Amino acid sequence: MSNIQCIGILTSGGDAPGMNAAIRAVTRTAMFNSREVKAIYRGYRGLITGEIKPFQTESVSNIIHRGGTILKSARCAEFHTPEGRRQAYETLQRENIDGLIVIGGDGTFTGAHIFGLEYNVPIVGIPGTIDNDLYGTDKTIGYDTALNTIVQAVDKIRDTASSHERLFLVEVMGRDAGFLAMYGAIASGAEAAIIPEIITEEDQLEQLIQHGFRKTKNSSIVLVSESKTTGGAMGIAERLKARGYDPGVTVLGHVQRGGSPTARDRVIASRVGVAAVDALISGQRDIMVGIVHGDIVHVPAACRLHTVKHNKVPVGLTRTPQA
Ligand code: F6P
Repeated sequence: MSNIQCIGILTSGGDAPGMNAAIRAVTRTAMFNSREVKAIYRGYRGLITGEIKPFQTESVSNIIHRGGTILKSARCAEFHTPEGRRQAYETLQRENIDGLIVIGGDGTFTGAHIFGLEYNVPIVGIPGTIDNDLYGTDKTIGYDTALNTIVQAVDKIRDTASSHERLFLVEVMGRDAGFLAMYGAIASGAEAAIIPEIITEEDQLEQLIQHGFRKTKNSSIVLVSESKTTGGAMGIAERLKARGYDPGVTVLGHVQRGGSPTARDRVIASRVGVAAVDALISGQRDIMVGIVHGDIVHVPAACRLHTVKHNKVPVGLTRTPQA
C-alpha cells in the first residue's frame, strides 16, 4: 500500500470524448476510498501555474455524457524544460498532492514518465486519445466515438458521391496511426483505406477505384489517414488528378474529436478510471492502465517506451503481432 492521501488529476494533449467519464470515475473512486481529489486545469500548464481546485463528488455530476474535458486541455512546451517541471513539482508540494493521474496520449505519458522519475512522483496514466495508437490497451478512450462520427459523415458524403457518380477522398485524423481510416473504411463500406502503416502505390489505388466503379457502384469513397506518409487527401487528390480523375475532397478535421461519447467509450473510461485509482493507492507508479481482451492491465512505462512505435497496428496488418 502507498501513503497517497491526495490525488491530482489532469487531462493533456488532444481532448477525446469519454475523458469526462474517466474524470468522474477517478473522482468518485477516490472519494469512496476516503482520498482527496484535486483537479488540475489545462494539463501540465495548470500544474506549472497552479490552476487547481479541490473536487467533491458533486464536482463531477452530470458530465458522463459530455464530450471534451471539463478540466480543459493544453499542449505545454514549458513542461518539456527542467525549469517547467521544477515549478510543477513545487505546485504539487504546495498543494499536498501525493500522486497524479494523467489522462492523455503518448506525449502526455512521456512527460509523466520523465517528471515521475525526476521528482519521485507516483503517476498513473489513463489512455485518452481518438487515435487508438497506444501500446498496451485494445482501445483508447474516444476512439469508438470518433469512429462512429466518421462513419456517420461518410454515410452522408456517399449520398452526394452516388448522386453525382463521383469519387470522394475523405481525410480522417489518427496522427501516424491508421486505425480510424481502416476501421472507418470497413464500417462505411468504402473502396479503400490509405493508411500510414502500408505504402499504397498509385497503380494499386487506381485498381481499387476502378474495381469499385466496375462492380455495381457508380461512385467511390476512399478514406485517407492524415500523415506525411500518405500525403493526406489533398496529396492523393493531386496524384489522382494527374491520372485524369476529379475527386471530391473532404477533410473531416476536429469534428471527429467532438460529441457525446458512445456507451462503449463511457464504459471503457469508467473502468480504467476506477483501475487507475486502485493502482495508485496500491502503490503502482509509472504505469498506464489499459484493457486487453476485456481485462484491466497495468502497462509499465518502460514497456510502452521500449516497444517499437506502431507495434500496435490495425488488425489484418501483419507487420508485427498484435499485443
Ligand atoms: O491526437 C489526437 C489528434 O486529433 C490527432 O488525430 C491529430 O493529428 C492531432 O490530435 C491534431 O492536433 P491539434 O488539435 O493540436 O491540431
